[in-house]
Amino acid sequence: MFLKSIRFKITILYMAILALTLTSFSLILYHNVNVSLNSNMDTLLKSKAGGIAQAIDTYWQAANLEAMDGADASEILRKRRNANFSRIAQRWVKEESTDPKLLDIMVQVFDTDGKAIASSKNIAGLGEIPRGEFIPVLQGKQRFDTMADFRIYTAPVFENEKVAYIVQVASPLGSIKIALNNLKVGLFLLFPITVLTTGVMGAFLAKVTLHPVDNMIETIHQIRAENMMIKLKIPNTKDEIQKLAETFNDMLGRLESAFNTQRRLFADLSHELKTPLTILKGEFEVILKKTRSNVEYQETLKSALEETDRIISLAENLLILAKFDSKEISQKSEKLDITVLLKGITNNVRGLAELKEIMLSFSGLEGLWIYGDPNQLKILFLNIIENAFKYTPEKGRIEVSAVKRNASANISIKDTGPGIPEDEIGHIFDRFYRVDKSRSSSGFGLGLSIAKAVAESHGGGISVQSHPGEGTTFIVSLPLVRP
Ligand SMILES: Nc1ncnc2c1ncn2[C@@H]1O[C@H](COP(=O)(O)OP(=O)(O)O)[C@@H](O)[C@H]1O
Ligand SMILES: [Mg+2]
Repeated sequence: MFLKSIRFKITILYMAILALTLTSFSLILYHNVNVSLNSNMDTLLKSKAGGIAQAIDTYWQAANLEAMDGADASEILRKRRNANFSRIAQRWVKEESTDPKLLDIMVQVFDTDGKAIASSKNIAGLGEIPRGEFIPVLQGKQRFDTMADFRIYTAPVFENEKVAYIVQVASPLGSIKIALNNLKVGLFLLFPITVLTTGVMGAFLAKVTLHPVDNMIETIHQIRAENMMIKLKIPNTKDEIQKLAETFNDMLGRLESAFNTQRRLFADLSHELKTPLTILKGEFEVILKKTRSNVEYQETLKSALEETDRIISLAENLLILAKFDSKEISQKSEKLDITVLLKGITNNVRGLAELKEIMLSFSGLEGLWIYGDPNQLKILFLNIIENAFKYTPEKGRIEVSAVKRNASANISIKDTGPGIPEDEIGHIFDRFYRVDKSRSSSGFGLGLSIAKAVAESHGGGISVQSHPGEGTTFIVSLPLVRP
């Protein structure tokens, strides 16, 4: 679990990134320091070599000061293959190469044959550049070499554009090696210390940041259907974790209200079931008190049958709703003319209208094509029309009409019943909701819930307009088939 925790992953990621950065940084640093130390050394050697050549020349000129008077100075001063010059160079090296200004720099002077004519005392250990590689110098090229812990600079000194002799200076690389070594050790020590410190700090930071998540997990563990009011403590971090907690609480709120609805439904259902069963029981008890006539038995059984029908219809309605809820209901979708369907339904209830002395009218042009399940749509409109009959008093009016509105068919069912109070309109589509339970004994308050479910499953909807005392209009809108 710990190895998979975000805290662990973040920490490892931190450390890996830092290790990578440090490694590349160290490599670049080491490389740059190495290059710059060596190039400093080369510059130093070059300038020393130049200085030495100049000093030897000065020596040479001073030694020949008298000779320069009169005679052909240039011929006498020729250094190339001149034994006198070799001696002077030797003397200079002997006398001056211990000068503290030269530090631990070694000096050698070669003649144009590549033979050493003068060497400082401290050249022990300094290897010799192989003969073959020496030739380019004799021809006028300078060169740098690294041999056996020494950096060596070999450069020709010119006289009349010809090589007169060669100066070679060398310096031990020890100091550079020590400096680089120190750098290496420093970087090696820095690496684990920094990576570890970052790891510890990263782990701590992740722990602090994710602490609210641990709290949330603990609270969530305690949430059950019975105690949905438990809410997460919202951390005031203004970050994703706060957002997560808020979102979770929102979801809990929605779940809580859904659970409450279910609970209310359950209670309502028990109540609705109990009423007809109690009536049945009462009727049976009464009739069983003494011996009755056949007619009386028949009356009671007829009434019992009615109550049983009520229970069956309740069960049927609930079943339809349950199927809509679980999206189990399969729609036999077919292209149908809604005006034709409505005309049929209206004709079927004409008898009822005559019985209640209600004026029933229908208007609408044929050709309002929609896709839908005719059986479900029949249930939808019957439920609404049934209500209109149920709640409209005798000599009232019911008008059914179908019109085209934009891309929809709008079917309105208008009655002259008592209307629905404004504050109840929002509830009439709720399951088991009935405005006035005593208004009518029949019905469970499920008809409109079913109507709404059908309309919505057909991509449409239902709206209501009602003025208490004047009447109610239900408007069902269903999407038309696109031409
Ligand atoms: N045409 C109407 N006129 C007045 N009230 C209505 C009308 N249609 C529905 N209602 C109100 O809406 C409630 C819910 O309707 P419904 O779901 O069909 O349940 P039921 O008809 O079983 O009572 C009804 O109880 C009634 O109070
Ligand atoms: Mg109804």
